[in-house]
Amino acid sequence: MFVEKTVPLNIENLKKEIAAYSHQSLEMTDSFEQVLQFVELEHIYGAALEEISTKLRILDEDFQLKTAHNPIHHMERRVKKLPSLIQKLKRKGLELTADTAKETIHDIAGIRVICNYLDDIYTVEKLLLQQSDIKLLKRKDYVALPKENGYKSLHLVVTVPLFLTDGVVETPVEIQLRTIGMDMWASLEHKLHYKTDKNTDSYRHLLKECADEIASVEDKMQRVHIEIQEDNQY
Ligand code: GTP
Ligand code: MG
Repeated sequence: MFVEKTVPLNIENLKKEIAAYSHQSLEMTDSFEQVLQFVELEHIYGAALEEISTKLRILDEDFQLKTAHNPIHHMERRVKKLPSLIQKLKRKGLELTADTAKETIHDIAGIRVICNYLDDIYTVEKLLLQQSDIKLLKRKDYVALPKENGYKSLHLVVTVPLFLTDGVVETPVEIQLRTIGMDMWASLEHKLHYKTDKNTDSYRHLLKECADEIASVEDKMQRVHIEIQEDNQY
């Protein structure tokens, strides 16, 4: 096993490094300040992901303790990388500043919660949203109303309070909740976006069929699961 050691981020050191690298004086230019502010985003949104992941893990463990079932299969998380954040700001015709990013981009911190069964998606949503420090900013239910291509997931944007040295910052996190089958489908469909050489139309049709078949299989498996759970309670 490896214990990964990283040098902690320190703004003062970073200023010196940037100045040394670009042979400039320590006198900050506007662009230096901007770079630093973007670097700070990584820290803030990373911390928000820590908070949300911990909440979800605790809920999952508590649910397992009380009902002998884990609603969450696994979670994946990421802070949007700087190049793709800048690309998104440009695409939306917005100013390239960290402040604009904070105000307008809600998926800088993103977490994907892969659930075991369809009902678990709504269980996890309910349990998370009933926490008094979590505020719902945006909700899109592509499970109840799938996209035309067959895409399904429940998208939430919530804010979580971060207790930093200079006060509390309510930080948005995008949460995508989906089943294992929905995740498998979305991963394959995502790859199709990079395909240009083949006839993508026929794949689209096939994928739509897969979405329906996956939903039907997951529905059957959930029913078996519920029956087994009920049997085990006696
Ligand atoms: P932007 O985040 O600005 O693009 O717009 P939005 O917030 O209105 O988008 P939405 O909530 O619909 O989707 C956000 C994310 O969901 C995307 O970045 C993808 O990760 C995922 N997503 C949405 N639609 C699809 C889809 O059709 N296929 C796949 N594979 N993923 C999707
Ligand atoms: Mg989004």
